[in-house]
Amino acid sequence: FLPQEVIRKKRDGQTLSAAEIRQFVAGITDDSVADSQIAALAMAVYFQGMELTENVELAMAMRDSGRCLRWDDLHLPGPVLDKHSTGGVGDVVSLMLGPLIAACGGFVPMISGRGLGHTGGTLDKLSAIPGYNPFPTPERLRQVVREVGVAIIGQTSDLAPADRRFYATRDITATVESIALITASILSKKLAAGLDVLVMDVKAGSGAFMPTMAQSIALAERIVHVGNGAGVRTRALITDMSQPLASTAGNSLETLEAVRYLRGEAANPRLHAVTMALCSEMLLASGLAKDMVDAGQRLQSALDSGRAAEIFGRMVSALGGPADLMEQPERHLAAAPVVRAVYAEHGGFVSAMDTRALGMAVCALGGGRRQASDQLDYRVGLSGFAELGAELMPDTPLLFIHAADAASADEAERRVREAIQLAPQAPAALPLVYQTIR
Ligand code: URA
Repeated sequence: FLPQEVIRKKRDGQTLSAAEIRQFVAGITDDSVADSQIAALAMAVYFQGMELTENVELAMAMRDSGRCLRWDDLHLPGPVLDKHSTGGVGDVVSLMLGPLIAACGGFVPMISGRGLGHTGGTLDKLSAIPGYNPFPTPERLRQVVREVGVAIIGQTSDLAPADRRFYATRDITATVESIALITASILSKKLAAGLDVLVMDVKAGSGAFMPTMAQSIALAERIVHVGNGAGVRTRALITDMSQPLASTAGNSLETLEAVRYLRGEAANPRLHAVTMALCSEMLLASGLAKDMVDAGQRLQSALDSGRAAEIFGRMVSALGGPADLMEQPERHLAAAPVVRAVYAEHGGFVSAMDTRALGMAVCALGGGRRQASDQLDYRVGLSGFAELGAELMPDTPLLFIHAADAASADEAERRVREAIQLAPQAPAALPLVYQTIR
């Protein structure tokens, strides 16, 4: 096996065999393939793309580069399922979705990530809970999933190690933006979790990972086809990220919003609608609900009865967090010392938001990383966003800034003023779910 021959073949637009893909990925994992060769293959795939069959093989080979979770020996009384989002601002869905699905009879081993670029990460939000340990032993993970129904944890280094090296090389060689490579990268990790069903939330709009709607749709379709080809029932929703999804963005703030949502307090309607749409699709795809109406009723009952809230509380305490988080969330989730309202300079309708810039404002406040080694300030963020289409008076806040000090609040204020546009007329309303791909 010569890596350069595989690179040449892809460079010239030919289709790689399963054996060639497997050998190349094995070489990434055992370091026998050089960084330069990974970069060259990534660039060749960037320009030539991959056939569906190649893409399935690449995702499976990357899955098999490390440990794969198995659940069959536990004889769980329900399906194993998960949701994955391409990332956004105020996308706190996972914290509510995991316990909701568990309350409806599913089992959710959710391997979540840290924030990337302007997007928040589920792992960072949960890390705002004092004591929460997102890295349980494999045995403990199995126990929590079996007994509680959901465990939201972090990715360990033995899961899809080929992806870690492949991604690090893509990141510094302008080859992240390949639909075939993004698909294999995301799915390698999700396939290694041993799922029966995966629902993808592919975002579209100014805060999305993919720059255009067409590319969001193309990614969603590819993930659905490759996921199904690799043996996991996979579906995708394209959902709106042209404004923050929740009422807050920032780690403690979003975790608090999720706790309040589960307790039945003050649900943001947009966040509720997207959470319900994703959960419903999961219940439908796994057979836990017979149709959309049935799914909606089961989810509403899980919420109204307090069962989902109870499950979230049990998951948190099973993983080392406080036993009374659900009863006294404000006691445990630290608040920022400086809270400042930002007012519109003139009246008008909120006509557009640069959601990516709002996410970057949260990062600059200390809520996200510029470098992998950065420590986060969980307290900081934004809240109370005026929504697209809302009519503002000069004394209506655009949003509130939660900052560590006045100087960082000043900088955040400059950023958010630039990110939110007002106009004399309301923009056309956008759907929350653009499309479902099955
Ligand atoms: N997220 C991933 O996990 N992989 C990619 O390639 C892009 C986003």
